[in-house]
Amino acid sequence: MQSVAAPYFVDFRDVWLAYNDELLAQNHFAVEAIDLQVKTGEFIAIVGPSGCGKSTFMKLATGLRMPSMGKILIDGQPVTGPLKISGMAFQSPSLLPWRTTVDNVLLPLEIVEPHRSQFKTKRKEYEARARHLLQKVGLGGYEDKFPWQLSGGMQQRASICRALIHEPQMLLLDEPFGALDAFTREELWCILRDLHAEQQFNVILVTHDLRESVFLADTVYVMSKSPGRFVVRRDIAFPRPRDLELTYTKAFTDIVHELRGHIGAMRQTGAVINQ
Ligand SMILES: Nc1ncnc2c1ncn2[C@@H]1O[C@H](COP(=O)(O)OP(=O)(O)OP(=O)(O)O)[C@@H](O)[C@H]1O
Ligand SMILES: [Mg+2]
Repeated sequence: MQSVAAPYFVDFRDVWLAYNDELLAQNHFAVEAIDLQVKTGEFIAIVGPSGCGKSTFMKLATGLRMPSMGKILIDGQPVTGPLKISGMAFQSPSLLPWRTTVDNVLLPLEIVEPHRSQFKTKRKEYEARARHLLQKVGLGGYEDKFPWQLSGGMQQRASICRALIHEPQMLLLDEPFGALDAFTREELWCILRDLHAEQQFNVILVTHDLRESVFLADTVYVMSKSPGRFVVRRDIAFPRPRDLELTYTKAFTDIVHELRGHIGAMRQTGAVINQ
């Protein structure tokens, strides 16, 4: 893999996207003027109002959509199509109901090369990897159950394992904990924190939960709507590993309030805030 020389793992250079030619002709962009650089191993979170372009950004970062203007480099390489080095998980865990938990986790290896062609010969090794990962997120004993036998939080853990099974360099999480209760959510924050500390992949987390963004990320970006732009970049300098106790400190809640203020101001005026 290339990369040692690449200064940034994710590098967006003045990226604009209109979803189709008609919208492009009208200068109607879903996201615009995105300049964003993410270091290798960095954990970023993106917050912003509904419809501002967060999922659009994810589609660009993983090559599911090509920009109308501008350039995107991932790991030093221009993006030309869907990337294999990323794993994704969404708000709904979307596990296949007819597959057991471990078989759901194995799914990407059956689809993504180079694993796909080796799947039959390496099945034992892959399965051991899947079981190990499931144990790590607290799903030991549930590997051979079906999704409908698991709680929502357990399904979401399995879906994170599925996103990580092919050892991606980049994990994209779009509101992964949105549907969970507060306790389960905090439990999964810690699981994600530990996996990230151990494996040092890049994370792009989209969330509506400001506490979540401040607890987990190295950098929080705030997006505005119409235009869909990145308007605030906030470094989160708390040392790692971070403990949940951190979320009750003044330093922590001050940052949450500050971000809340940016979003509140945007909602009132619809105006773009300067960086
Ligand atoms: N396939 C598409 N074709 C045309 N427009 C689209 C398409 N997908 C999204 N959009 C538009 O692009 C804009 C950004 O949408 P996006 O889904 O990125 O927002 P979001 O920030 O993820 O919102 P939410 O928080 O509700 O998930 C919206 O105006 C949306 O209507
Ligand atoms: Mg979205």
